[in-house]
Amino acid sequence: MKAQLETIYNSAKTDIANATSINDIEDIRLKYLSRKGEFNSIKKGLKDLSDEDKRTVGAFANQITIDLENLLKEKHDAFYQKELNEKLQKDKIDITLSGKYTPVGKVHPITSTTNEIVSIFQNLGFSLLSPDLSPEVETEYINFDMLNFPEDHPAKDMQDTFYTKLAPNTILRSQTSGAQIRAMAGKNPPIKIIAPGRVYRNETVNARKNNFFHQIEGLYVDKNITFGDLKGVLNEFIRLYFGSSRPTRFRSSFFPFTEPSAEVDVQCIMCQGKGCRTCSGTGWLEVLGCGMVDTNVLKNVGIDPEVYSGFAFGMGVERLSMLKYAIDDIRLFFNNDKRFLEQF
Ligand code: DAH
Repeated sequence: MKAQLETIYNSAKTDIANATSINDIEDIRLKYLSRKGEFNSIKKGLKDLSDEDKRTVGAFANQITIDLENLLKEKHDAFYQKELNEKLQKDKIDITLSGKYTPVGKVHPITSTTNEIVSIFQNLGFSLLSPDLSPEVETEYINFDMLNFPEDHPAKDMQDTFYTKLAPNTILRSQTSGAQIRAMAGKNPPIKIIAPGRVYRNETVNARKNNFFHQIEGLYVDKNITFGDLKGVLNEFIRLYFGSSRPTRFRSSFFPFTEPSAEVDVQCIMCQGKGCRTCSGTGWLEVLGCGMVDTNVLKNVGIDPEVYSGFAFGMGVERLSMLKYAIDDIRLFFNNDKRFLEQF
């Protein structure tokens, strides 16, 4: 029986030596060492041997089983390592290949300019009015009547304002000033807010004018607010927004909802005040309207003009952005030309 075991042991060793793959190794293991393998069938005869022989032959059988297992494992590991190396070689990532370009979007200059202006006013103590108090679809009543526009004011004309069919007398707001009314109605001063948003006008489009654009409305109502406060706040805003000093001028003006009223012009950056297409030859661009809140407006919202006074302003975001970044045509903001938008 020992001789039989030796023969099988030798033939197994030869098979292992000739194996060429992990599969071969597995086949050999099955052939010799599995439960139905050659060794086991011989080992079944052990029970018929004498005690003495059982011990020696049994020990021998165990010894060669362990030997074969070790040989198989060694060979298996060698093949495994070889296959792994080949695979790693084949699948190697070429880190010198150039990557795939994924374009990243930019914040639109109107958005970034709005954010910048809003944060300047927040630092000056103004808070952002909730957007639901500043809707784009507005009533004529709030956009005009409550703001002291007379019944026959030309701005109310269909030529100038977009009327909607949603409900009678609803319009696309022509200014953010309606936010003043919504901010004051039912509230007690002090009221110190800003309200940014989009406005619409039925206008012929040119380098300075588009039929929709963006404004930021500001309002400060409290006891003893004066025109001096208005000038102080706006001058500080211009200093903070443009950084270095920019030639600006306060010009008296008229708005139905402020008295007295003024406009602020900033020197045209495109021509340094010499006059060009962007400023239509004047050397200046108007960036905002402002004034002391008209007593009629305060009365309309139930605030006593004998006790309180206030100032208001409304600025054009596109104009301010054009003047900061030397953009010579308002239409560039809305063409969605990537060559323009990528510069911000
Ligand atoms: N709403 C005016 C416009 O769109 C701008 C304006 C002027 C706003 C004077 C104000 C103001 O708040 O006080 O032309």
